[in-house]
Amino acid sequence: MINENNDILITPELSEFPRFNPSIRLGILASGKGSNFEAIIKSSKTIFDAEVTHLISNIEDCGAINIAKQYNISFSVLDHKEFETREDYDRSIINIFRGKEVEIIVMAGWMRIVTSQLIDEFSNRIVNIHPSLLPSFKGINAIEQALEANVKITGCTAHIVEKEVDSGKIILQGAVAIKESDDQNSLLEKIQILEHKILYKAVAITAKKWRETC
Ligand code: GRF
Repeated sequence: MINENNDILITPELSEFPRFNPSIRLGILASGKGSNFEAIIKSSKTIFDAEVTHLISNIEDCGAINIAKQYNISFSVLDHKEFETREDYDRSIINIFRGKEVEIIVMAGWMRIVTSQLIDEFSNRIVNIHPSLLPSFKGINAIEQALEANVKITGCTAHIVEKEVDSGKIILQGAVAIKESDDQNSLLEKIQILEHKILYKAVAITAKKWRETC
């Protein structure tokens, strides 16, 4: 795909989009503006037989909360300062999502490290989106890292969450060419176009595997 600025954006297509009956139940973790969260909601209203059951955020006034309000999706704010340990925090996430009968967790811009409490409870059922072509540029500031490294292609990766940050099994990736004129903002914009196209597909692939085993 080449957009109006001649940027090369490559995103994988699924030959057949999986169907779910009953709808797959998603729980969302988000800390930021929530554009990936909104893309998931939109996919659930069109191609994806998914129900976005609940949002958990650690930031009270983030964009994701506003999106939940806009689409009438229930949400909780969990302030990490109110928990003694990361494990306690994750146990709260588990309790909330269990109560909503969540099958798959989507980390749509979740800015907290999770513990094995959560990872083991939802083993192979937590999907994260990261703004680089993993295994390159793990951690924070992935876009800045790519620009500093002077690479010519970067992108985004949807992967299963495992204990080591940004290291789980890769589900899908999208690639974007970096131009001389690109800066952090322009690159973020291009990468997010791809994120919104691959995240729901990666969640559907993960959900299909989960339904086949349960
Ligand atoms: C995304 O770029 C994602 O790759 C990273 O956090 C960002 C969240 O953006 N993990 P948004 O809140 O979904 O707009």
